[in-house]
Amino acid sequence: MKIFIDTANVDEIKKLTGLGIIDGATTNPTLLSKEIARQYPDYSSFSKSKILEESKKILFEICELVKGPVSAEVIATDSDGMVKEAEELSKIHENIVIKIPFTPEGLKTTKILSSKGIRVNMTLVFSPSQALLSAKAGAAFVSPFTGRLDDISHWGMDIIRVVVDIYNNYGFDTEVLVASCRHPLHVVESALAGADIITVPPGVLEKLLKHPLTDIGLERFISDWKKVFGE
Ligand code: G3P
Repeated sequence: MKIFIDTANVDEIKKLTGLGIIDGATTNPTLLSKEIARQYPDYSSFSKSKILEESKKILFEICELVKGPVSAEVIATDSDGMVKEAEELSKIHENIVIKIPFTPEGLKTTKILSSKGIRVNMTLVFSPSQALLSAKAGAAFVSPFTGRLDDISHWGMDIIRVVVDIYNNYGFDTEVLVASCRHPLHVVESALAGADIITVPPGVLEKLLKHPLTDIGLERFISDWKKVFGE
């Protein structure tokens, strides 16, 4: 299973790419706007062109850091606007994948972009039917938001299992990219479900790296060694 990092914070990405287990990254308007605000305290004075310029810089830097697919989401909601933005974003780096929300306009846009060879990550997907249509439209990735389904007392992981089964039934090339990951068990359950990818916030990634029994065991190994051979 591939692991993507779910953030636009380049400092966090720099810190975690050194682990050698990150295969890509996902951003969205919430994450990218947060990173621009973090890097530029004077962001409120930015023009639209300045915002676009800084967004491109951050996305390029992320592409260079993760050396795998990096999802950048459009802001427009109409198909013409989404196509225009997508073509602009695609020029940033060969690793850029365009995030398109699952709406009727988004579905139309995904068909247009995939026929142009522009990879799409269909996002804000919450049902197996949305995932089925995303694959039919030629999306390279589909992002079911597991955590947000959990947040409203639905079994978020159920959709992953169903979508993996549907895609296997028809041999769709679309990769299942589990999004809205809330905790380490989402990672384990996604792997059990056969998802292709999970995108993990840095905080959850940090939790995956720690286990108290490993720490206790290592401390004991070292102290037992030192009891015999000294410091
Ligand atoms: O990439 C999608 C992901 O960032 C959404 O996560 O935590 O906002 O539901 P969350």
